[in-house]
Amino acid sequence: MTTYVWYFIRATGTVAYLILYTSVMVGLFSQVQKKRKQKIGNTLYLHESLSNWALILIAAHLIFLFFDTYVSFQWFELLVPFATDYKPLPMAIGTVSLYALLVTFITTKLRKQIGIQTWRKLHMLTPVLYIFVTAHALLIGTDFQASSILLLNILPLSIFLWLLFKRHGTSTAA
Ligand code: HEM
Repeated sequence: MTTYVWYFIRATGTVAYLILYTSVMVGLFSQVQKKRKQKIGNTLYLHESLSNWALILIAAHLIFLFFDTYVSFQWFELLVPFATDYKPLPMAIGTVSLYALLVTFITTKLRKQIGIQTWRKLHMLTPVLYIFVTAHALLIGTDFQASSILLLNILPLSIFLWLLFKRHGTSTAA
């Protein structure tokens, strides 16, 4: 039984990460489309839907962790950073990522109420969330290898830096 739960913890974490990765790629693609003056409505819908699915998978990741009899976590050990003796730093990074993702989800749902400009500024912090999730997976995961994660992330990182460069180039030229 313990082995199955462990498989599910790894599977839900890995699928959540891959969905988040795809969501990041789709989000970056929407900015490329915007630069090319193309419509981005459908792309943004996909970006948001993928992030919602990642959140569902992360909820499952936590539920399986709670039922893990190998370590036997209490709820507060999963929800309060550094409350556990089991790999405290990678666990805390996971908990902080969870909260950051929840804040992103809630502020996106309330973006009209909080104002699009404020929401956009908050959303600019999501690369930090992605870096945190990547660090969590690399530090604690069984299946995550630094070389393959680096390879996987070269493309989104390059697009992100290109968009930053373009934005900076446009704002200094203006
Ligand atoms: C944004 C939220 C999170 C994401 C995307 C995420 C993703 C992942 C990924 C990708 C793995 C690696 C799977 C593997 O290679 O084994 C993993 C493993 C793990 N995560 Fe998370 N995680 C998140 C939140 C959390 C939280 C809040 C905790 C608990 C505090 C947690 C605890 C663990 C543990 C204990 C493992 C190790 C499983 C093993 O033994 O291999 N995660 N997570």
